[in-house]
Amino acid sequence: MLVHLTPVTEAVHALVTALELAPDQLSFVADNSDSLEEAVVDKDARPRAIMTDDRVVGFLMYEAPEDDDEARIYRFMIDRKYQGKGYGKAALRKVLEEISALGHIRHVSICYAPENEGARHLYHAAGFIEEGLDEDGEMIADLVLPANER
Ligand SMILES: CC(C)(COP(=O)(O)OP(=O)(O)OC[C@H]1O[C@@H](n2cnc3c(N)ncnc32)[C@H](O)[C@@H]1OP(=O)(O)O)[C@@H](O)C(=O)NCCC(=O)NCCS
Repeated sequence: MLVHLTPVTEAVHALVTALELAPDQLSFVADNSDSLEEAVVDKDARPRAIMTDDRVVGFLMYEAPEDDDEARIYRFMIDRKYQGKGYGKAALRKVLEEISALGHIRHVSICYAPENEGARHLYHAAGFIEEGLDEDGEMIADLVLPANER
C-alpha cells in the first residue's frame, strides 16, 4: 500500500477540506476545516494530508512537543470513498514512523469514541492498549514505541 504523508500546503488545502465522512461518522472526528484553522494558531499541531500517488485520501493531525516524551494523534480520517482499502492502516504506520524518527518520543496516545469499532480495530492491530475513558467519555489508548525505533 503506497501511502505518504505531506504537510497541508496551499496546494492540497482545498482537497483536505473537501474530504467527506459517512453521516454516522461525523461525530467521530472534528471537521477538517476546523482542524486546519486550529493548526494555524497551535504551534505544536502537525497536520498531514494522507496521499496515495497524487490523490488526497485522508487527513490526520498530531502533536509531539519538544519538551515531552509523549506524542498525541488527535485527528485521523479517511474519506468515505477510500475507506476499507487499507489506507488507514498504511497511514497509521507512516505517522508512527514519522513520530519515531523525531527521536524524543517514547509513547503515543490516541483517543476515540468507545462505539467507534473501526478506530478500535485499527489502533488495537497497531499495538495500542486501551487505558480507559477520559472525563469526556472518550477511550484513551497508548502505544509504547519499540526501543530500536526511537
Ligand atoms: C477509522 C478509519 C480511519 C479507518 O480507515 P480505513 O482506511 O477505512 O481502514 P483500513 O481499510 O486500513 O482498515 C484497517 C483495519 O480496520 C478494520 N476496519 C475498518 N473499518 C472498520 C469498521 N467500521 N469496523 C470494524 N473494523 C473496521 C479493517 O477491516 C482493517 O482490519 P484488518 O487489517 O484486520 O483487515 C476510517 O474508517 C475513518 O476515517 N473513520 C471515520 C473517522 C474516524 O472514526 N476516525 C478515527 C477517530 S479517532
